[in-house]
Amino acid sequence: MPTHLTEQSITAAVQRTFDTSRNPRLRELFVTLVQHLHDFARAVRLTNEEWFTAMDFLVRVGQISTSTRQEFVLLSDILGLSELVDKINNGSGGSATESALLGPFYVEGRPKVANGADISGGVNGTPMFVTGHVVDPTGAPVPGAHVDTWHSDENGFYDVQQGEKLHNQFAMRALLTTDGSGRFWYRSIAPRHYPVPTDGPCGEIMRAANRSTMRPQHIHFWIHADGYQPLITQLFLKDDPFINSDAVFSARDSLKVDFVPHEPGTAPDGTVVDKPFQTVEWAFVLSPARTGADRSN
Ligand code: BEZ
Ligand code: FE
Repeated sequence: MPTHLTEQSITAAVQRTFDTSRNPRLRELFVTLVQHLHDFARAVRLTNEEWFTAMDFLVRVGQISTSTRQEFVLLSDILGLSELVDKINNGSGGSATESALLGPFYVEGRPKVANGADISGGVNGTPMFVTGHVVDPTGAPVPGAHVDTWHSDENGFYDVQQGEKLHNQFAMRALLTTDGSGRFWYRSIAPRHYPVPTDGPCGEIMRAANRSTMRPQHIHFWIHADGYQPLITQLFLKDDPFINSDAVFSARDSLKVDFVPHEPGTAPDGTVVDKPFQTVEWAFVLSPARTGADRSN
């Protein structure tokens, strides 16, 4: 390695250290990353002080992260990287339902429930009845599909954000299975738009940029079925005030839905509801699983 590296020649010197890698993909990733990082520092004429600030920021992102507080994922989300990677790998254009971010509030161990169950966990709110149809690209039903669903309460908080209040019980989340006609259905309470967590380093960036921290009202779904690609997606309230300024860039036209308001009366599952309620109905189209040949492309 030359001992007289310059502002320009240092980039190739670092890149050459990956020549000995036995993994060609790792080499490609790091060589390209180093190129872009160095080009960035040169382009903005990065100062020592700015570099120290950035290192301190990343240290703090790590320090606040836990198994339920994913600040690095949030950083990727607010910089649009998570959504970009999703678009690269699940490009739109086919007939399948578009994907949307998983987000940090999916948790293992959610209850498995029968169709028609009330998954609100006793949390107060406007009753909401969700009906989904899981189909293949020809419209044929997919029976036996596993459907994870989770959403916030009417104040925009997930159960895991209010452990004491909910006594660490799961609420507003469940795992269902589609019936013989590819349908699943459940009762819960209507969610609400909410801010992404802003009490950590990512909040500092959003405040410094004076940008919106809000996610439009949505429900999450993660659908698995044998023979199909898993689908991670969200349905967004069509008229939400934050529908065009999602803090994590995941809301999209093809996933806008009506949360249809109803006067007290008979709900889709036949139960009588003595207060106003909402209904949400959607067809989720799964893509067939990739074959080995597809994957190598
Ligand atoms: C969510 O929808 O749960 C979410 C996604 C990204 C960041 C924060 C929250
Ligand atoms: Fe969410």
